[in-house]
Amino acid sequence: MKVLLKTKMIISSLTVIIICGLVATLVAIRLIGTGIINQAQDKVRTDLNSAREIYREESENLKDVVRFTALRFFIKEAIRDNNLELLQKELEEIRNSESLDILVLTDKNGRVIVRTRNPSITGDSQTQDDLVSHVLSDREIISGTVIVQREELLKERPDLAEQAYIKFIHTQKEKPSLKSESTSGMIIKAAAPVFNSDGSLVGVLYGGTLLNRNYKIVDEVKETVYQGVKYKGKDIGTATIFQGDLRISTNVKGEDGSRAIGTRVSEEVYEQVLVKGLPWIDRAYVVNSWYIAAYEPIKDINDEIIGILYVGILEEKFMDMRRRAVLIFLGITLAGMVIALIVSNFLANGVLQPIKRLVFASQQLAKGNLEYEVELKSSDEIGELGETFNLMASSLKERDERLKEYTQQQIMKSERLATLGQLAAGVAHEINNPLGAVLMYTHLSLEEMESEDTRRQNLEKVVGEATRCRDIVKGLLDFARQTEPKVEESDVNGILNRTLSLVENQALFQNVKVKKLLTSSLPKVMMDSNQIQQVFTNIILNAAEAIEGEGELIVVTRRAPDNKHIEIEFTDTGCGIPPENHEKIFDPFFTTKEVGRGTGLGLAISYGIIARHKGTINIRSKPGKGSTFIVRLPLKIES
Ligand SMILES: Nc1ncnc2c1ncn2[C@@H]1O[C@H](COP(=O)(O)OP(=O)(O)OP(=O)(O)O)[C@@H](O)[C@H]1O
Ligand SMILES: [Mg+2]
Repeated sequence: MKVLLKTKMIISSLTVIIICGLVATLVAIRLIGTGIINQAQDKVRTDLNSAREIYREESENLKDVVRFTALRFFIKEAIRDNNLELLQKELEEIRNSESLDILVLTDKNGRVIVRTRNPSITGDSQTQDDLVSHVLSDREIISGTVIVQREELLKERPDLAEQAYIKFIHTQKEKPSLKSESTSGMIIKAAAPVFNSDGSLVGVLYGGTLLNRNYKIVDEVKETVYQGVKYKGKDIGTATIFQGDLRISTNVKGEDGSRAIGTRVSEEVYEQVLVKGLPWIDRAYVVNSWYIAAYEPIKDINDEIIGILYVGILEEKFMDMRRRAVLIFLGITLAGMVIALIVSNFLANGVLQPIKRLVFASQQLAKGNLEYEVELKSSDEIGELGETFNLMASSLKERDERLKEYTQQQIMKSERLATLGQLAAGVAHEINNPLGAVLMYTHLSLEEMESEDTRRQNLEKVVGEATRCRDIVKGLLDFARQTEPKVEESDVNGILNRTLSLVENQALFQNVKVKKLLTSSLPKVMMDSNQIQQVFTNIILNAAEAIEGEGELIVVTRRAPDNKHIEIEFTDTGCGIPPENHEKIFDPFFTTKEVGRGTGLGLAISYGIIARHKGTINIRSKPGKGSTFIVRLPLKIES
């Protein structure tokens, strides 16, 4: 499938953008997530401080009420006068106006004189009560949270015990318990000494508020800290007071929408807050929703942990905030990607424009329009490519022109050779017969002459010169004959060995060392072995003639790199051929040899033979150093 460069460029830049976008998004989601959760935890920690303040304020208020009541004049007087009626009336009024659940006066031994909520039960000792015993011994006011047993609550009338009674409601994560109900109550209590005018202790006044099912503190926390804000119908902030691990006052709602009184804290929180006495801030599943929650222990005056104070913010709001932030971020990333895509498309166009021009120019070149020049103004690599392209085109053009010229010359040369061939054949044919007659009659005359005849010498010269003429004529006929080769499968190495063994014994080869590097596995080639032997003989004799004194002839056969030809290479250490003669040596009658030694037909004939075999002869030569003749013959002759 063809994928456009532009598509590839856009895909690769898009891949980079997507990877960066993904990494950035992941990092951002993580940062936003932890940032928002940390923020929520900080907030809930502060909220817990506020809740603790509100709780403490409640205790302080109570303390003030008890303190100031204990200082009231009527109490001292009524105690002195044993006016129980007055005490009951006044104190009950105070209890009502201050909305206290209990207000009790004991004598200096801790025996109840007046129990405002239930006047019928008096005379019982309250010295077992930590606060009362503290006041009796230290004679100073004290307040704190205490757990009060059911029998004590019953003394204050059964309805108070009833208010304190809570049946456990089972939820998922609570710590398992053998109990199924709680009968005691948790009370914020304050106790103050009552002195008479001479400063001696005459009694103890204590008051208290039952926290079980009393929602004043938790609702105040909700109102003050969270302003009662709701999120998706649920209170955003909630507060709870636990007696031990039991919810006794809360504004967390259960499944039915009522306050989740009777449910208990998770085991995790139980261990951390009630057992270890440490605060706990984390997300927590409270009744039926997730909250970012904070818990801390509530202690009595002996520093014993008796309950927990809790505030929690609905996690959903923060989760939604996080989701929104993430969505906004994703939106921005996506928009960035789209913009990047547009920009990369634009940039890709910028890069591709010159490439397109180059492609067009190459097409022009391929069509043969070598005049076409590409115009690229950029100074980068593409500009460089454009310059190189133009350079390539101009050198191609130059080559093309040279090739044309060369071909022209070659055509002219072969035409010349052909004409020469015809002429030579005609002349040779005409001369051959009279020459034969000259030789025959000269031989006859010589036979008839006496051996001492002085004219014999002249006639022998005639025979010599006529023989030389016949040789030339024979050469001319060979050159001109241009007979089609009679091809058969022949072994080049065999022909070479045969040729060399024929010539090596000649005097010419006395000082010539012949080295054969013949590739043994050469395939057989279709050729006329006689004609090829003639070519090899001619090249080898030329080499030997070029070597003056001692020298070397190296003959190599091999497969050509294109695997379609074989190459036969003859290298000699002879006199070499000057460059200006490279073309001429294949011309008929071109020879540098003295008259009578060479006819200049050898290479012309060889050239013709090799050409008819569809092969080539090339030369490499350095004057003074030697020459190399390379004959290339095709493995198959294609017509
Ligand atoms: N190996 C060679 N080293 C140097 N010159 C060479 C070599 N082979 C050929 N020549 C040159 O090429 C010329 C032409 O050679 P060619 O074989 O056609 O003719 P020739 O050898 O002169 O005569 P003949 O017809 O007897 O072969 C030679 O005269 C010689 O100058
Ligand atoms: Mg020759």
